[in-house]
Amino acid sequence: MSLTTIPQEKEVRGLNLIAAHSHITGLGLDADGLEPKPVSQGMVGQLKARKAAGVILRMVRQGKIAGRAVLVAGPPSTGKTAIAMGISQSLGSDVPFTTISGSEIYSLDISKTEALTQAFRKSIGVRIKEETEIIEGEVVEIQIDRSVTGGHKQGKLTIKTTDMETVYELGTKMIEGLAKEKVIAGDAISIDKATGRVTKLGRSYSRSRDYDAMGADTKFVQCPEGELQRRKEVIHTVSLHDIDVINSRTQGFLALFSGDVGEIRAEVREQINAKVAEWREEGKAEIVPGVLFIDEVHMLDIEAFSFINRALEDELAPIVIMATNRGLTTTRGTSDKSAHGLPVDLLDRIIIVSTHPYNADEIREILTIRAQEEEVDLHADALAILTKIGQESSLRYAANLIATANLIAAKRKSTIVEVGDVKRSYSLFLDSKRSVEFLSEPKEGAMELN
Ligand SMILES: Nc1ncnc2c1ncn2[C@@H]1O[C@H](COP(=O)(O)OP(=O)(O)OP(=O)(O)O)[C@@H](O)[C@H]1O
Ligand SMILES: [Mg+2]
Repeated sequence: MSLTTIPQEKEVRGLNLIAAHSHITGLGLDADGLEPKPVSQGMVGQLKARKAAGVILRMVRQGKIAGRAVLVAGPPSTGKTAIAMGISQSLGSDVPFTTISGSEIYSLDISKTEALTQAFRKSIGVRIKEETEIIEGEVVEIQIDRSVTGGHKQGKLTIKTTDMETVYELGTKMIEGLAKEKVIAGDAISIDKATGRVTKLGRSYSRSRDYDAMGADTKFVQCPEGELQRRKEVIHTVSLHDIDVINSRTQGFLALFSGDVGEIRAEVREQINAKVAEWREEGKAEIVPGVLFIDEVHMLDIEAFSFINRALEDELAPIVIMATNRGLTTTRGTSDKSAHGLPVDLLDRIIIVSTHPYNADEIREILTIRAQEEEVDLHADALAILTKIGQESSLRYAANLIATANLIAAKRKSTIVEVGDVKRSYSLFLDSKRSVEFLSEPKEGAMELN
């Protein structure tokens, strides 16, 4: 069996989730990656949890310790999801990071265990070394014969190195590839023989005086030396899930783009695991354990938890980071109460990182960063009152008021958000506490804003 693997862009999921954390660009650790700085990379405070996250990041980077699970537990709005995003931002682009929310696995039209299996396999990368044959040289001439009927195109490409010159016949696909890259005589190019992909390397120095053919950002390169055809080693990383999808006969390659993959047969996965194991023995592939982040993990039920327990034992496993804001609660699907709603056998194998509520200074700092991120100018008094709201209600609620208060300010043609705008916004949009009070019995105003 031969397997197809193609490089994949990192998946971006849950756009709204990312927007709320768009100010976070990392964990904000010092150069050694050990100590968190008080304010850095959009991160404020929560030092202990960030330090712990730094240690986890190290484990992931070393790529050796997989199959571990971490639970981030703490009250709402204390940065659990934010810290997971910080970890994701700090990982190299070829280390997979997958996010799912506990409730998500129930809403898909595949079984819960299939959804989890796919999430696990998305979080395990396979770094593959491949040799491909390439043609690299400077274009001497491109000659295209247009057929009278306009259909098939044919042509010739003359290409050289400092040592040799050859003429290749061109088919329609290659002609299109060259046209797309806007290749002209005097360009140094590289052609992947297997895929026909054309890459422009730059403009040959010998043409540096053809002013009309170049823009200001033209890159000049030497004319390639030696043989025109060479073997070159390329490395790319794909997830096990991508390999599953591409190679499962019913779905194939297009399913990757539609996102609709359905269930994948167990035999396909077994074959792929066997093949990957073979590649590892031959030194052609390396496993890159990534991170699977399961947010709102208390939404999972006992079946899902026992699946995770088993999956962590597997030889191919990512690091699993879970987050919850529940304390003692029942595990779904049982009548047992346990810490964070996790069954005891799973609790037993995880390490727990806890987050704590922020003080006023930290809240002010986070709100300031959010306002900058949303390009909103807050008057100092408006910031003070938002900070107070953040303390009494929740940080997330206060952060959400920034955008609404800004709209109210814009309505009165002000570019600065003043106290009044925040107050209007606060009275228009309830936080959960006031909303509940409002629905149960009418009382006088919940919180005095002065
Ligand atoms: N330490 C921090 N530094 C910067 N921004 C933060 C920090 N903690 C939280 N935030 C921001 O505050 C908002 C709420 O935090 P977050 O969503 O991470 O809370 P959470 O602990 O996941 O809450 P929940 O239990 O409700 O899911 C987000 O916009 C987040 O980016
Ligand atoms: Mg969260």
